Amino acid sequence: MPILMCPPTHFGVVYEINPWMHVASPVDRRRATDQWEALRTTYRDLGAEVVLADPVPGLPDMVFTANAGVTWGGRVVLSRFRHPERQGEEVHWRELFASRGTPVFDTAALPFEGAGDALFVGDTLVCGYGFRTDRAAIPVVARALGVHVVELELVDPRYYHLDTCFCALDARTILFAPAAFAPASRERVRRLAPRVIEVPDGLAAGFACNATAIGDVVVSSEAVEGLSDQLRELGYRALGLPMGEFMKAGGGVRCLSLPVPATRTRPVST
Ligand code: ARG
Repeated sequence: MPILMCPPTHFGVVYEINPWMHVASPVDRRRATDQWEALRTTYRDLGAEVVLADPVPGLPDMVFTANAGVTWGGRVVLSRFRHPERQGEEVHWRELFASRGTPVFDTAALPFEGAGDALFVGDTLVCGYGFRTDRAAIPVVARALGVHVVELELVDPRYYHLDTCFCALDARTILFAPAAFAPASRERVRRLAPRVIEVPDGLAAGFACNATAIGDVVVSSEAVEGLSDQLRELGYRALGLPMGEFMKAGGGVRCLSLPVPATRTRPVST
């Protein structure tokens, strides 16, 4: 599947909606652009197709395409952002998917933050709730996509989206930060797959879990290199990229990336 990215033309930290964001420590947009370009080049070098969204002035977090929605089976369920600061993005994401011919679903007014809180392990949808996504939205999303769902409770505000503390490298291999989850959910993750790597807080807080696996390469922030040995034993290679400017907004590699269905040229019959 192509990966959707949005250039950081208007990226910045101009409001605070998670504990990483401090308007007093502004983003260096030049450096952000270099970091973003390096990620885009990395995807291309690994053979992944990258498609671009048009950035919109006044929507500095649009660069985090993971929050546009979640896609599966050629459909998308759009996000309904918790915070008014990001709700202006919704119309643009709706337009983008409509223009690509992707059938669009939504959760009506229930807060749901797309692939930030909704990730697949094989064909099971795993959803996080507790900070951004409303628990009541989860069955609505699962029904729209026609999938089985597992719900996980997030309890640490630093890990306010599931993708900051959980990543399926393939259907049998998961990275996760135990500190982020309520005890029962932590146990549930340990039973989700045969191979579960527990990421220490020091690496998770460097956004190591916020990763994209392209084949056997785990692309993430520099902190992922602290998992190199464990990943190598499982047949993976860690590839760490500087993500400092995006971490100031509470995001890393995975937040900047959304797998999307290929464009459909023929009209969808209903
Ligand atoms: N500043 C953004 C927010 O708080 C960061 C979003 C990061 N995205 C993600 N998928 N974790 O909403």
